[in-house]
Amino acid sequence: MSPLAIVPDEILSAFQNRFHSDRQPDIYRAPGRVNLIGEHTDYNLGFVFPIALDMACHIAIAPADHGKLRMYAHDLGEDFEIAVADISTAKPTSTWSDYTIGVAQQLSSRGFTLASSDLYIASDVPAGSGLSSSAALEVASAFSLLGSGKLEPLEIAKLGQRAEIEFVGVPCGIMDQYASVFGREGAAIQLDCRSLKHEYVPLPGTASIIAVNSMVKHELGTSAYRERVNECQQAVNAIKAADKAVESLRDVSLTFFEQIQDSIPAVPRRRARHVISENQRVLDFAAAAKAADLPEMGRLFVASHRSMQYDYEISCEEIDFLVDTAIKLPGVYGSRMTGGGFGGCTVNLVSPDAVDAFHKSLGHAYEKRFGKRAAFYDCKAAPGAGRLSNSFPKGA
Ligand code: GLA
Repeated sequence: MSPLAIVPDEILSAFQNRFHSDRQPDIYRAPGRVNLIGEHTDYNLGFVFPIALDMACHIAIAPADHGKLRMYAHDLGEDFEIAVADISTAKPTSTWSDYTIGVAQQLSSRGFTLASSDLYIASDVPAGSGLSSSAALEVASAFSLLGSGKLEPLEIAKLGQRAEIEFVGVPCGIMDQYASVFGREGAAIQLDCRSLKHEYVPLPGTASIIAVNSMVKHELGTSAYRERVNECQQAVNAIKAADKAVESLRDVSLTFFEQIQDSIPAVPRRRARHVISENQRVLDFAAAAKAADLPEMGRLFVASHRSMQYDYEISCEEIDFLVDTAIKLPGVYGSRMTGGGFGGCTVNLVSPDAVDAFHKSLGHAYEKRFGKRAAFYDCKAAPGAGRLSNSFPKGA
């Protein structure tokens, strides 16, 4: 947990203190996610397999008469405000507020009237860790600005993704926002990013899911993400010469890829090999999870990591060290990087009775090697976004 975490019960009084008001705000929660497998497959219309986390972004919101959206970010101790009338023409400021204003702009372009409001935002999803603190903020912003029940859940996920692409400027897929909206306790979400249909897959209770935060975020992240999206498109363009029907890497089987791979330039060929093989690994992982076959789940974790390391080239020294050290420890079934890459977290499948020793040994080795402390999060699949305020006694 981040040291600045706020428990939901506290957000009510924090809101009232901050805005000098005894108004009773509505409170919404949207979780972060950890992706178990299926990395960089979402914008290639393939498969992903995330769980929503109990680490989440909470927003307390109440109407106000000052004509603005007035926001306070608890974790950063920062304010931001904008006149409601200026939202449709607002430009990004490269700060946390872009996620909320981007969502507000999407809502306004869909014809929703935004009310002047005060928002108290508190998140314990660690930022820049590959656990989707941005999507949690986008989805919590959409719920709080809109109120419950005005848009279908899928539309909320799509709207968050559009805000990130069009306002924040990251050409992301839909996995993070989808997981934040559709999370379910005890289950992973097997999502088909082409049909946007999902299946819940219960996870075997016999392994703990531990995310390990390397505490590094390489600047390369956003530009390299865009570069990978382009390289995948170059691969699709090259494959089209052999089969005109191919519109995304999702349409390409591993067998067909192997037959025609020499016709693809070397870099896009490696990117395509990752995406196409990763799609198959998601399907194999889902089958292994249903059979509670932990050794096979662990093997697929490591295969996924190697594919990101060598073919997609999105890992880094710290992350490779965490993976290589983890998989030698007793009771560890598998380890891989999770999220966009170039730092952030690994996700590990660990036998519950080995978790303490895992924490100690890996934490110690990492600190010795890099002189910084990794953070460990015990991840439990949690429910998706929604309104919380009903659980608060009125006038409390
Ligand atoms: C980021 C993006 C997602 C997805 C992952 C990689 O989290 O926001 O859409 O592409 O990277 O799997």
